[in-house]
Amino acid sequence: MDIQEQVVAAFTKRYGEAPTLLVRAPGRVNLIGEHTDYNDGFVMPMAINRAVWLAVRPRDDGRVVIHSLDFDEPIDFNVNDFSKDTSSPAEYVKGVAWALQDAGHELIGFEGIMKGDVPIGAGLSSSAALELAVARTFAALSDLEWDAATYALLAQKAENQWVGVNSGIMDQMISAAGDEGHALLIDCRSLDTEITPLPSDTAVVVLDTGTRRELVGSAYNERRAQCEAAAKHFGVEKLRDVSVEEFEAGHQGLDDVTYRRGKHVVTENARVMQAKEAMHADDAKTLGKLLNASHVSLRDDFEVSSDALNSIVDAAQAHPACYGARMTGAGFGGCAVALVDSSQIDNFVQQVEAQYTKNTSYTPAIYVTTATAGAAVVE
Ligand code: GLA
Repeated sequence: MDIQEQVVAAFTKRYGEAPTLLVRAPGRVNLIGEHTDYNDGFVMPMAINRAVWLAVRPRDDGRVVIHSLDFDEPIDFNVNDFSKDTSSPAEYVKGVAWALQDAGHELIGFEGIMKGDVPIGAGLSSSAALELAVARTFAALSDLEWDAATYALLAQKAENQWVGVNSGIMDQMISAAGDEGHALLIDCRSLDTEITPLPSDTAVVVLDTGTRRELVGSAYNERRAQCEAAAKHFGVEKLRDVSVEEFEAGHQGLDDVTYRRGKHVVTENARVMQAKEAMHADDAKTLGKLLNASHVSLRDDFEVSSDALNSIVDAAQAHPACYGARMTGAGFGGCAVALVDSSQIDNFVQQVEAQYTKNTSYTPAIYVTTATAGAAVVE
């Protein structure tokens, strides 16, 4: 049974009828454009074939009851009376309810079954997938007009202000607006999106190092502050407003660390635009080189990689079928992404797994992904 069949079957078993509504919201992998979103810059993620699914029916008493096939505890609260609790999956659901109500929407409750196959904490945005699945469900049941960018912003607000994680807009935006078969260029200032083709005969492979870093939050906030300091030096609101040339011409006076943080962001924004050109030209080689350059910049200048990430990226880049590879997401652990000649996928997966296992003590997980649609009602 695939995941869709599992949630529907579990719903039918528990409630004795078919669900009124079935919703899917995907996780994501970012091809290029890392740590640029909170600098109002550019990102190029794609929604992946791993998602959170919700099968539900409305309730008329305001209660939200979700039985997850992945967690023991059901999520249970009333939209008319709820408060913050210790961090748990329920807080993402309550946070979305809060953000939607804060925007003036009247919500009705629901009950049902949830299941996801986005690995949790791996840097593939399982939390954004959960937020968007819940937002899409509330919007459909409460008859609210759906707009990807609007709901992505509300989901980000839930994550920032209710859950207390200071993330940018990329993850929610791609989970909301993903496009089947394409990556999405997102301008994180205007939230304009542009569907961008993936190079033909290539596959996007996610390489999970099997490592998780607990202290990502403080390092992430530190990077954000350093970027703000660099922007201030240039007298602009965000580093998005500084070109590579302007940066090189005007960086005198920045301390070494702030210089390197800023350099990563301005060069990464330029790489995203070059990646867009390469993708439209069906040029996998150039795209691969840009991925490799992004990794070097994240490793040496932004300093958010890790030994495990570097090791798996090295193993990927060493394979002849690999056009390019880099760490993806916030960093310090989690996943890398590789662009690979699709005719040699099996050998690539086998070799990278063997090499990484030989060089580290970790067990990798490797997923060959496809680009899927964003949060949607399925039935
Ligand atoms: C995390 C955040 C995103 C983004 C990336 C780094 O995934 O949630 O908003 O900042 O890190 O690119």
